[in-house]
Amino acid sequence: MSSQLFNLKTILEESIEQDSFIKGVLSKKRIKNNEFNKVVFSLKTIKEKLHIQLVYHTDKQTIFKNYDTEQGREKIMDELENTFFQCNLFTKENDYQLLTSKKGKTKLIKSSPSLKNKETSKIHNRQKNDWIQNDELIKVLGLGNENGEIYPRASKKYKQINKYIEIMDGIFKNNPPNSNIRVLDVGCGKGYLTLALYNYLSKKYPIEMRGVDLMENVISWGNETAKKLNFDKLSFIHGDISSINDDNWDALIALHACDIATDLAIAKGIHSKAKYIMVAPCCQKQVRKSMTPPKKWNSILKHGIQLEKQAVLLTDAMRALILEYFGYKTKVFEFIESEHTPKNTMIVAEFCGQENHESLSTFNALKVEFGIEFHYLERLLKW
Ligand SMILES: C[S@@+](CC[C@H](N)C(=O)[O-])C[C@H]1O[C@@H](n2cnc3c(N)ncnc32)[C@H](O)[C@@H]1O
Repeated sequence: MSSQLFNLKTILEESIEQDSFIKGVLSKKRIKNNEFNKVVFSLKTIKEKLHIQLVYHTDKQTIFKNYDTEQGREKIMDELENTFFQCNLFTKENDYQLLTSKKGKTKLIKSSPSLKNKETSKIHNRQKNDWIQNDELIKVLGLGNENGEIYPRASKKYKQINKYIEIMDGIFKNNPPNSNIRVLDVGCGKGYLTLALYNYLSKKYPIEMRGVDLMENVISWGNETAKKLNFDKLSFIHGDISSINDDNWDALIALHACDIATDLAIAKGIHSKAKYIMVAPCCQKQVRKSMTPPKKWNSILKHGIQLEKQAVLLTDAMRALILEYFGYKTKVFEFIESEHTPKNTMIVAEFCGQENHESLSTFNALKVEFGIEFHYLERLLKW
């Protein structure tokens, strides 16, 4: 690889990392009868992951190919070495043009940005109802730049967090806590939600918050970040949720705590008699594994995908029933449009203290009806 090509590769890499990359074009084909006239490449978020999309243009058709960012960069360099003489790269700061002569000499020309205003203005739309309102936090979380403008690759995460805060704000507004409230975020991961929620709630209420997760590196990052932002009543703990012995929480929250981790969060809330339990579950697998529906359901559940979906429905419905049995008023709803995440079911439970024995009967009836050996949550509780 020539040094200029190497430089271009580095510019591409850095501009993607710094969210400055806009798009690129490969043109001037090396071999005349090559069917592709040009390739346009840009960033695309697919299933919440950033990809490079290469769009191949022939005289008759357009072909789309998606790669993860590393493979995409390699593919672009490969096309440039073998198929095209020219590459134009557009970033917010500069335009670059790499020209290759027939003898293989390369020249890299840098000029002022030509697409800056046209193409970047549409990618940084901060939501009208922004519940985070802290540009420094947005930047530290890697969701956006220092002006609080959200990166396109982070917009789905931003929307989920924003919505979660909005819902929690609504709940607290109806019943404002006047004494210190303790909130535990189970499976907090890097702490996007924990930090953003603390940032919002601590300005309105006396609050103490903790995040717990199995991943050590993200926990130390969370603690450093909380310190940097002076979030002095927020801390992160490395470990399994079951290592938290303290059962004195006012609110239990979890965003996409996988499979039974959501049950562990709910159980912790019930043991604590937490006023609020708010979980957005994901990867509901346990019930599916312990489920053998009777033959009468065969016509509907003989297809794997339908059985899987039914098991997800049952998992969350049964969680709600258990919560009701333990005295919680429970709502299950879609908290965000599925285009932002397919894992968009939320269970919100508010403690009202009235046990509901009918819910327990319904729970048991569902087990019999669908041949469910056990629901993990029931094993975590004393009936
Ligand atoms: C899909 S991530 C979600 C992270 C974060 N809540 C978010 O939405 O960005 C699920 C997290 O749950 C954590 N987790 C799974 N089981 C756990 C357990 N038993 N105790 C604590 N954390 C757990 C995983 O380590 C992972 O970071």
